[in-house]
Order: sequence, then structure tokens, then C-alpha cells
Amino acid sequence: MDTFQKDLFKGKVLFCTGGRSGICYTITEQMMRLGCSAAIVGRDAKGLEESARALEKSSGGKGRCIATSADVRDPSQVGRAVEATIKEFGKIDFVICGAAGNFLAPISTLSANAFRTVIEIDLLGTYHTIKSTLAHVRKSQGSYIHISATLHYRGVPFQPHVAAAKAGVDALSQALAVEEGPRGVRSNVIAPGPIGDTEGMSRLTPKGSNVEAQIPLGRMGKKEDIAQAATFLFSPAGSWITGSVMVVDGGESHIRAPM
Ligand code: HXC
Repeated sequence: MDTFQKDLFKGKVLFCTGGRSGICYTITEQMMRLGCSAAIVGRDAKGLEESARALEKSSGGKGRCIATSADVRDPSQVGRAVEATIKEFGKIDFVICGAAGNFLAPISTLSANAFRTVIEIDLLGTYHTIKSTLAHVRKSQGSYIHISATLHYRGVPFQPHVAAAKAGVDALSQALAVEEGPRGVRSNVIAPGPIGDTEGMSRLTPKGSNVEAQIPLGRMGKKEDIAQAATFLFSPAGSWITGSVMVVDGGESHIRAPM
């Protein structure tokens, strides 16, 4: 936390899908402590409101937070969330595309609707968020971070829907970076490894598995590890970084189990 100047994001505005909980909540919390205001976006209106109040409290009143409920699969709902953000704060500097859905299922039993559901949340949801925010981000010469994964770097079983969606997210971010770079807009991906105390991790990790043994740095990630990376990428220190994928995984994606 003390790594960054205390008013680093003073006067800035973050629009964060998936900000109600987990990794995106913690990124928002850190950015608000550094002076940012935020709109958090998700489907659970009541939960969002509670999270917005908790975020204002934990940032010591430095940043304001509004709850804007929307299903990222519906472009008109995302558009309304953006309008509410502009009405409240007048601009958007930073966007985090973090809304995601996941469950374990082999291809052989995964239904077309189940596959489509995750593609619609993770990939189309990212597309809708970009489309709805881009004019504002151009105006502020702002920046995007997309929360992806590392599971599509190898063949990981039982997550074909998520792997396909996240590969698409990486590609979309890269295209955005190249198209919008000349207008001063940056776009990067953060690919988290296994992060403890998240809903995703508890749903996806088989009981009794020794995840740490597969991580060169010897521990599970913390949500704060991702928040630090996001803060760096959004800050002026990241001003010449675009189109990149920052893997934050303790080295997990580089290890190969002995044959
Ligand atoms: C098999 C499933 C399923 C499951 C849903 N479906 N859950 N199939 N196993 N566990 C199927 C349904 O049967 C249905 O297909 C289709 O998916 C749509 O399901 P619904 O429940 O109707 O959809 P919806 O209410 O929109 O909810 C979808 C969902 C939810 C958001 C994906 O199921 C969910 O699990 N939410 C949890 C969100 C979550 O985990 N967030 C953290 C993400 S972490 P049929 O054919 O029956 O109609 C993350 C990290 C990625 O993403 C990287 C990890 C390494």
C-alpha cells in the first residue's frame, strides 16, 4: 500500500465490472485509498450497494463509490451503468473488465447454453464494457485493465468455456491497444494465478489439492498482489505499457510437473 504515493489517483474515476467482491473489489479498494472514486458494476444490486458503502468506509472517505447494477451480457444495461457514472462523476479514467462466471465441466457434458453463458459474461461482457466506455476513456486519455487467466496457456481440463473466453479477452485487449494507442488510450491484461480466499478459487480447486507445490514462489496469491499490479499499470509508471499481458501468478504458469 505504501508503495504508491498516497494521492496517486486523486480526481480519477474508475468503472469496474465485477467490483462487488473478490479481486476486483480489492483493486477498487486500493485505488480508492489512493484517492480514486469508483462505480462498481454487477448483477446483485443489494450486494453492490453494501460493497459500495464498505469501500467508502475502508478508503477513509478519500474516494466515493456508487453501485450501478447491470448484467454485462446486456449492452443496454452496461450503457445505463456508464450513464449513471458520468452523471455522478462527469468522466471515466480507468476501466476494469472483471465480471466473470465459472464452473468446472468437461466438454463432453458441457451444454451449448452453458458454454455460451460463460462466453457471454467473460468475452461479450468485456466487449460491451469497452464499447460503452470508450468515448469517455478517449476523452480522459485513460486506460483499461482486463482480468483474464493463465489456464488457456496450456490445456487445462474442465474449463474449455473459460479458456476460450479468456483467450478472446486477451486478443480483444491487444486489438484495443493497437487501435486506440494513437488516441492515447492504453489497454492491458492482468492474468492472475491461483488467488486464495476468492469465490473462483474455492469453486475450482478440488478439495485436498496442494496448489502451493505448483507455485515456484511457494504461496498462493493474495488479492492485494493483483491490486498492486493494477495500480502500477494504471499509474504514470505504466504509461508506456499497452497491449501487454501481465501474469501475476508466483511463477505457476511456468512450472511443468516432472514426467
Ligand atoms: C455445469 C452449469 C453449471 C455447473 C451453470 N451451468 N452452472 N453447467 N456445471 N456448475 C449451466 C446451466 O446448466 C445452464 O445450461 C447454463 O450454464 C446457464 O446457467 P444459469 O445458472 O442459468 O446461468 P446464470 O444464472 O446466468 O449463471 C451463470 C454463472 C453461474 C454466472 C456462470 O453459474 C456461476 O457459476 N456464477 C459464479 C460466478 C463465479 O464463479 N465468479 C467467479 C469467477 S472466477 P443449460 O444447458 O442447463 O441451460 C473466474 C476465474 C477464472 O472466472 C480463472 C480460473 C483459473
